[in-house]
Amino acid sequence: MPKSSTIFFCTQCGNEFAKWAGQCPACKEWNTLTESESVTRVGKKGSSSTAKAEIIQAATINKHSSDQPITTNIGELDRVLGGGLTPNGVYLIAGQPGIGKSTLLSQLASKFPNEVFYVCSEESPSQVNARLKRLDQKAKDINLINSSEIDSIFRSLKTTSNALLIIDSIQSVYTETNPTSAGSPSQIRDSANLIIKNTKNSSLTTIIVGHVTKEGSIAGPKLLEHMVDVVTELSGDRSYELRLLHTIKNRFGPTDETGIFRMTSKGLEEVPDPSAILLEGRIDGPGSCLTMISEGTRPLTVEVQALVVPSAIPVPRRVAKGISSSRLQLVCAIVTKHTKTPLNTQDVFVNVTGGIDIKDPGADLAIALAIISSHKNTPLPPGTVAFGELGLLGEIRRVKLQDKVVKEAKVLGYNNLISPLSHHHLKEIFIRKN
Ligand code: TYD
Ligand code: MG
Repeated sequence: MPKSSTIFFCTQCGNEFAKWAGQCPACKEWNTLTESESVTRVGKKGSSSTAKAEIIQAATINKHSSDQPITTNIGELDRVLGGGLTPNGVYLIAGQPGIGKSTLLSQLASKFPNEVFYVCSEESPSQVNARLKRLDQKAKDINLINSSEIDSIFRSLKTTSNALLIIDSIQSVYTETNPTSAGSPSQIRDSANLIIKNTKNSSLTTIIVGHVTKEGSIAGPKLLEHMVDVVTELSGDRSYELRLLHTIKNRFGPTDETGIFRMTSKGLEEVPDPSAILLEGRIDGPGSCLTMISEGTRPLTVEVQALVVPSAIPVPRRVAKGISSSRLQLVCAIVTKHTKTPLNTQDVFVNVTGGIDIKDPGADLAIALAIISSHKNTPLPPGTVAFGELGLLGEIRRVKLQDKVVKEAKVLGYNNLISPLSHHHLKEIFIRKN
């Protein structure tokens, strides 16, 4: 019989402790211990297993198993997953509430070539069915499972070969072997363990939905990310229509691809040319600079806007949207030092249009040029696109996939490329004052 008592569970490494501590004694992370109920599994006293582990010749495996990815019939999703869904794989799709996880999986369910089972633990089957019908009138028949208990879910599956199981979401399912409520770190860990074990012992492929916390990390133990085969994240700004799907971990393929979608009234639409959406309604004014960032293996043109105005307060403001504020502080310091632009009395606001979050340091040069252009109240020459990482000494450095970026910029007709190929230092770039 399981006995239950209170324990403290590390959300980072998954270890359990009898006492709370500010720092996890095992993984040394701070503030990761959360209170949880523990289950002590009492086994038969003195029982020792005599079962032997099976030894399999690696060469014989590939002959029999068909582990070719199965296409999802959604091009952008296939691109991110490295060709499709690998049989027996366990996938985790994470994202903020309302970003479109259930929408994407409903579309996948109706397009997937094999049988699909959809566990409606978060919504009712009629809600899921209504969404499926709204997204695709001619949606194929999908098996909806109205249960949240893992064992009963797997018992009810009459699986045909290479079927797809969608569990929406890991925070709302539970296993009876763990008495804690659904969504607790130990429940998520035990449920995920059971899902993975059952998937590997069947001919299923499983996709699990995972919510993210306020801080942006996947809710539940960090362990969850180690357990599954593939972790993807759907991100974007809910007030804009663009959604990006990144792979964080992929045991079956590369992690450098990004799928680009647009949220419409008919669900998520694949976007072949995201730059067109990002640059819609753009004017070539002072404070605007185009840059190309590499999203996966594709360069994406985005607009960086800056507004530099005299500050009314002793410590001027640095407000950033779409880039981190520490990056803005750094670029402001580099601009002040190396171009003699007196920003210490100016408020600087920077915005990346389209709700895109730029993490690529290759956008540094464009941020600097947008700031200088706004300060001098002078637009950059038409057809300008800038990319390059800025060093603290003002040097302009190479960017990821530079050759591809240059090629793409030429194809798109940008004839004034400011990059590490044309300039080595920020002070070599002159923006003439009006
Ligand atoms: P949903 O997939 O339910 O989000 P998640 O599962 O990640 O929490 O998507 C919710 C949002 O998507 C909702 O705010 C409305 C929007 N949406 C559309 O704009 N068009 C659609 O066709 C659908 C299904 C949703
Ligand atoms: Mg949902």
